This record gives sequence, C-alpha cells and structure tokens, in this order.
Amino acid sequence: MPEVFVWPDEVSVPLVEGGTLLAMAVDAGLPIAHLCGGRARCSTCRIRVVEGLDALSNRTEKEALMAERLDFPDEVRLACQTRADGVVRFWRLVLDKVDIEMASQLGGAHYVGPVGREVERAAVMFTDVAGFTSMSEALPAYDVVHILNRFFNRVEAAVQSEGGRVDNYMGDGLLAVFGIEREGNAPLGAVRAGLGVLEIAADINNYVSMIYGRAFQVRVGISLGEVIFGLMGGEASARETVVGDVVNTASRLEAANKTTGTKILVSEGIQTETLDSVEYGRKFKLELSGKAGQITAYEVNGLVELPGRD
Ligand code: FES
Repeated sequence: MPEVFVWPDEVSVPLVEGGTLLAMAVDAGLPIAHLCGGRARCSTCRIRVVEGLDALSNRTEKEALMAERLDFPDEVRLACQTRADGVVRFWRLVLDKVDIEMASQLGGAHYVGPVGREVERAAVMFTDVAGFTSMSEALPAYDVVHILNRFFNRVEAAVQSEGGRVDNYMGDGLLAVFGIEREGNAPLGAVRAGLGVLEIAADINNYVSMIYGRAFQVRVGISLGEVIFGLMGGEASARETVVGDVVNTASRLEAANKTTGTKILVSEGIQTETLDSVEYGRKFKLELSGKAGQITAYEVNGLVELPGRD
C-alpha cells in the first residue's frame, strides 16, 4: 500500500487518496506546523521532498504564488496544498528545541496549528508625541507619566467610541486597530478617532504649557490592510495583538509627518474609502524607511461639513 514517510520523525503514514500531505501528517499526530490553517497564507507547513516528486499534484495557484515569493526550489512544497498518488518521502519543517519548548508552553497543537485569524480589512492607527525625548529629559519621570496618562486615558475612550480598540502602548506611542470584529466603517472610524486624538492633544497642550511651559503635540498615521489578529509573545506575556505590514505602514506614516509638516497622514486605501466624509489636503509621494518604493499619502484636514450639521 502506498505510504508517506516523514522525517525527522521517521514515521510512515498511510497514503490517503485525495488528502493533502498536511492532513495525513496531522492525522498521524506529527507536529507539523501549519500556522495559517492550511490556506497557503504562510509557509510554515513547507516540506522538502526527497523521493516521489513525480507522484505529487501540481502546485495550486496559491502555492505557486507563495513559491515564487519565497523562491522555493521544485522539491520544496506546501504540505497543505500538495496531494500524492504514490510513495512520497519528505522532511517536514523541523521544529528545533526552542520550537518544541514553545509548543509545550503554549499548548502543543496550538503552536503548530493556526495562531490567529486574518482580518482582511483593518484600519491601524499609530500616534506618537512629538519631542517626547526632550520632554522626558526636562521633566521628572512621574510628571511625564502623569501627562501621558491624562492623554492616553482620553484617547482610549475616543478610540472605543469609534469602534476601535487600543492594541498596544509603546512609551509615548499608541497603536489602535479598527475593524477587528468587522464592526462599522473601520477606515472612517480610524480617521475620526485620529482627529479626536488631535483635539485631545490640543487640550493637553493647553494644560502642559500652562503647568510646565512646554508644548504637547502629537502625530498620527493611519493605514488600511490585512492583519493577523492572534495570541503572540512568550509564555508569561502572550497576549492578543495585531501583526501585519499595515502596522509598519501606519507607524512610518506617523513618523513621516515630521518631514511633511502635517499632523495626520493616511494611506491611499484609507483616503479612497473615506472620500465622501473626510476633507483631504495635500497629497504626498513618500519613500518610507524600511519599505520598498513610494507610497501615496494624504493629509487629513477635517470632516466634510454636511448640510444641516451644526
Ligand atoms: S499551513 Fe500555511 S501554507 Fe500550509
């Protein structure tokens, strides 16, 4: 009877007609990673075939895209996309000692299996305090915490009122995400929250200049795209968070305000989806650090005044 032989486990699995190599390995209890759940959205189920290449199905369209992106040679396949009609021998992605320890700490199958869910259209907002380093140098640390907490407390309420959630605080920076539960209009919610952040910052600025004689200004970057929302981190600190290129873009847009002289910059995706409700100003072609090519960004001026609105 045809079989599939898997290294480094040295386990022989009966070939299941029409089944994927991933399903056969998982059914046999092998710890083969498959973090996207078998949808050709990662490459963690990759295998290196050492015998039986001719017995394998052709690459699916999705696998071919991943193979091109990661420059796979012919013998490297995604197990979740590959079927066989004859004897096959392969190495699965080897879990090293660290992976195995993490797997047992985070719940075995959880680590090798899907780790989160994809959200195709999340709006991500980054905020940062301008000149924070010099403010931290000049003021006592307790006073800095006091100012930031005043600010963050109100920003969190503004984010929530627009259907978002604060995902993380990083010193003076804040990351918020809209659309995780596919609720409401995520791009518009993010822009409205961004404008709210500027209003809050203006208020805090009055307070900080009166008490400390310093300015308090904030920059905002917003981008739209796909994220993975799931449990990440080490055993003691694992928490739900978002990861995706859109997070980097939002962060880079926030920083780009320094060179464009703006307060809020949004990506083209956000601009396109909020044209009816948001007044946009200047358009920029930006080269963002760490990102290839140029991206188009727009300055937000405010919300469109609707007839009848006070
Ligand atoms: S499990 Fe992600 S590509 Fe196969």
